[in-house]
This record gives sequence, C-alpha cells and structure tokens, in this order.
Amino acid sequence: MNNDYATALFEAINDSAVLLDKTGRIVDWNQNATALFGYTKKEVIGRSLNLVYTQNYPFPRIIQEVLPLQKKWSEETFFVRKNGGKGICKTNVTLINDPQLNKPLALITHQLISTYKDEVAAMQISLEKKENETLEHRDALYFSHSMAIKNLIALEQAEKNLRESELRFHLLAENSTDIISRHTTDGIYIYLSVSCKTWLGYTPEELIGFNIFKLVHHDDLEKVKKAFNRRKSNDNHHSVTFRMRRKEGDYRWFENSLRLIRDEEKGYIKEIQSASRDVTERILDKKARLRGQQLAHVFRLSTMEEMASGMAHEISQPLAAIVNYTRGCVRYLEKGQDPSQLTEIMQKTVAQAERAGEVIHRLKNFFCKGQLLKTICAINSVIRETASFIRSELNASKTKIDFELTKDLPLISVDKIQLQQVILNLMQNAIEAMKETAHRDRRIHIQTKPADHNRIEITVSDTGPGFSKEIINKVFKPFFTTKAHGRGMGLAICRSIIEAHGGEFTINPNTNSHSWIRFTLPLV
Ligand SMILES: Nc1ncnc2c1ncn2[C@@H]1O[C@H](COP(=O)(O)OP(=O)(O)OP(=O)(O)O)[C@@H](O)[C@H]1O
Ligand SMILES: [Mg+2]
Repeated sequence: MNNDYATALFEAINDSAVLLDKTGRIVDWNQNATALFGYTKKEVIGRSLNLVYTQNYPFPRIIQEVLPLQKKWSEETFFVRKNGGKGICKTNVTLINDPQLNKPLALITHQLISTYKDEVAAMQISLEKKENETLEHRDALYFSHSMAIKNLIALEQAEKNLRESELRFHLLAENSTDIISRHTTDGIYIYLSVSCKTWLGYTPEELIGFNIFKLVHHDDLEKVKKAFNRRKSNDNHHSVTFRMRRKEGDYRWFENSLRLIRDEEKGYIKEIQSASRDVTERILDKKARLRGQQLAHVFRLSTMEEMASGMAHEISQPLAAIVNYTRGCVRYLEKGQDPSQLTEIMQKTVAQAERAGEVIHRLKNFFCKGQLLKTICAINSVIRETASFIRSELNASKTKIDFELTKDLPLISVDKIQLQQVILNLMQNAIEAMKETAHRDRRIHIQTKPADHNRIEITVSDTGPGFSKEIINKVFKPFFTTKAHGRGMGLAICRSIIEAHGGEFTINPNTNSHSWIRFTLPLV
C-alpha cells in the first residue's frame, strides 16, 4: 500500500492484517501482525505467509482462482509464533484492488480465537466436573460465552466498517463528474478519480506522483500555492478558481473546492483533498461573451475589454520595433559614431510610431463603424514590407524567411494595415512555435499564387511542431492559448480580418509534421 490514507486504515484494523500479492508473497504487514506472530514487518516482506502456519496453504491458487469466484476464504488455522508459542486463529482472505497499483492484492486478517476456545474448553471441563453446582455458575458461563461471541462479531463488524469507509470514498470519487484528487501538502497527487481523463486528458496513473503546481497557469500559480499553504487558518474548506494545462496543451478554468485534512490529535495538515470542476465556459462567458457566432468579424468584439485586448495586441508589435530601433540608436551613440548615420533608423522609428497611431485610429474606426479602408495593393510588396517590420525579431530568433511569391499577380483591394496585421500575427506565431526547434531549422515559408480566376491565395508555413489535431478546432476561439503569456487573440483577429475582406482563412492540421495556414483574398 503506498498512500497515507490506505496505510492508516491498514494500521487501524484491530486484527493482525497482512497483504499478499497474487503469488502469495507478503507485501505489507501491520503492527498487530507483529504483535500476534512475533515477526517484524522487515523480517517477513517477500516471504510466504505459510511461515506462520503449522501447515501449508495454497495461497496463489486461493488468490487467483478461489477468491474471484467466492470473494472470501475463511479457515481456522493453527499458527506458530516466532518464539515457538502456538495458537488458533480465524484467517479471512479477501481480494482488494489497489487503485494505484492497479493489480489485485489479498488482504488477510487473523482473529485470535485460541484464548476464547481455551476458555470455552476450560469452562466445559468445569461444567462436567461441577455439573451439579449452582445455577449462578452456569449463568456466568453462558454470559462469558455470549460476551466472547459478541466480541468476535464486533471485531468483524469493525473490520467491515473500515473497509466500507475506504470503499465508499473510492466509489464516491470514481462516480463523480468532478475531478476528485488527494494531494500531499506540497501539492503532489496521491490519488485522482478517473474523470481526470475526461477533463484534463491525463489518466490518473500519469499524474500520480506529479505536482499539481506544474499544471497550473503561470499567472494563477501564486494564488494556488497560497490556497495549499493555509496552515494557520482554522477554516479547512475554501475554494479557488484557476487555469490548468490539459494534456493537449491548452488551458481550462477549474473551480476547486479544497479540504485540508488534519491530524486529529496534533492538528497538522496531513493531506489536501480537492474537487475540481471545469468552469471555462462560465468564465469565458463572463470575460468575453461574443454576440452571435464566435468573432465572425472583428467589429463583433462587443465590450470595451475585448476591444482593448485586441488593440493592445496589435499595438505591441510596432512598439516593440520602436524599442529595438531606439536601443540601436543608443548603442550607436554610445560608441561615439557619427550621429548623421542615424537618420535612416530614426525615420524607421517614426514610421513605426505612425503605424501604431494608425492602428489605433483604424481599429477605432473599424470597431465603431465596421468599415474597412481599402486601397489597391500588390500583395507581394505588402508581404515583403511587413516582413521588414520584424527583421530584428527574425534575426534575434535566428529565423530564416523564404519567399515563393508568384510574379505579376493581379492587384487586390484591401485595408493594407489590417492585412499587415494578419501577416505579422502569423509570422509572430511561427517564431514562437519554432522556439524549441534547432537553430538551423527555423524557417518561415510564404507563398503567393492565384487560387482561381477571381482570388489569390497566401500560404504561410513554418518548421515548428505544427498544429495538432486536438487543438485545431479551438485556435480561433478568443482567449484560447497554449502559451504562458499568450492572449489567444491573434488567430481570431486574423480570421475575422480576412473574412471581413470576403476571403477564407484555413489551417491545415499537423499531418507528416507539416502544417500550414492559408488565406484567400478576392481580386479587385
Ligand atoms: N505557427 C504555429 N504553429 C503551431 N501552433 C500554433 C501556431 N500558431 C498558433 N499556434 C497555436 O494556436 C494558439 C492560438 O494562437 P493565437 O495567435 O490566436 O494566440 P497566441 O499566439 O497564443 O496569443 P497572442 O494573442 O498573444 O497571439 C497558440 O497558442 C498556439 O498553440
Ligand atoms: Mg499569436
């Protein structure tokens, strides 16, 4: 048995109790067993239980063949203590399934009956001898006889109750739709109900021994640690809502009701139990309810909060470029180089600042009136110009960019700033996705070509891990992100912009480790 709760129960059984594996070897041995048989746990682990009996019992067969059919095997057995003393006890064998080890174990309990038997025998002799003695004597005998039987029944009942209480916990946990879990005070999982597979994608076995803090979203970690560490508070129940990373890599919101289990005598916290419920929809509803369908157009972003989030995202890019350019200027000046050389870089800085201003202006217009400010453009030059905005980021992350741009494509009518935002978002995502890829393999590929007689198509791919099938349906949901600091708005905005232009935006999931994003735009 490898968890505190079960070990405590095992030790709490009033009988001597022994756990056998299916080959009949001893895997655990409680203190009452030591008291009854005189062997310490260390002396018997791995040995056959027949060590303590005067005859050999076929335990492997009893465990593997008899118990699965008739649940319980009982026998009056003769035992020999380590010091040679002998006795009789009632041996009960039952099958239990340890949920963590996931293999059957046999629980053996021994109820000492030799004393009781001796007593009865002694009394019977005295009865024979003093058959004619007073009725009081006989009453006393019957009384002690019935007391002994009552004690035996009470013992059996206590054992049954303990086993039932453990079973009840597991039954409740296993049938709950919430994730029921038990943790050490440091947050390590010691038990999880099967429903964790549904909500987190992990099986209980994958998480046991693992720390819950590793799944918690970076921004929520502090409050979760605080909730687990409320040693001083008298309140043993509290709830905390936080994001956890699922096996697929995305985060979901969970409302967790935590219960601190204290040691009854000393009051310290022994373990923490938790019931967790997925409340993602409720939270997102609260934070970002979208009118009608999910973000079919950017102007559907309905609240100020969402609008601010979208704007912050788009403005952060020119701002980052301004910071980079300005740092470059400072370095240049620090080296005492000719300041007139700075004109070009300062002009670029101004251009970025103007771009940020334009983004605000355009987004404001777009949100308020849902209008696009279209101009006639050549897609290839829009792409090349946009790539130059993040040249420094491409260099810093050692990312190469390949263009496969079809010459002389027909012109398109687009809101250039918004189209640039789409391309920037896609390049930004590609850079982030390739962070784990080896340096020489970091490559973004951008292709343009005619799709049919009235549309062109633009395909962006990278050499990162690609989109797995599991997340492909979620990436357009606002606030869906697998990144610790992502806002989960980029792709939602991209698709909205393209659809607002009458185009289509599609993602090909990761097949043969090559995924791509493609969008079409109508010709003028
Ligand atoms: N090129 C890519 N390769 C692999 N996965 C990607 C790629 N682009 C996006 N993703 C996945 O799609 C998710 C959503 O992307 P999206 O751009 O909408 O949000 P984000 O990048 O997480 O945050 P932000 O709003 O800051 O851009 C990402 O978290 C990531 O898991
Ligand atoms: Mg992004």
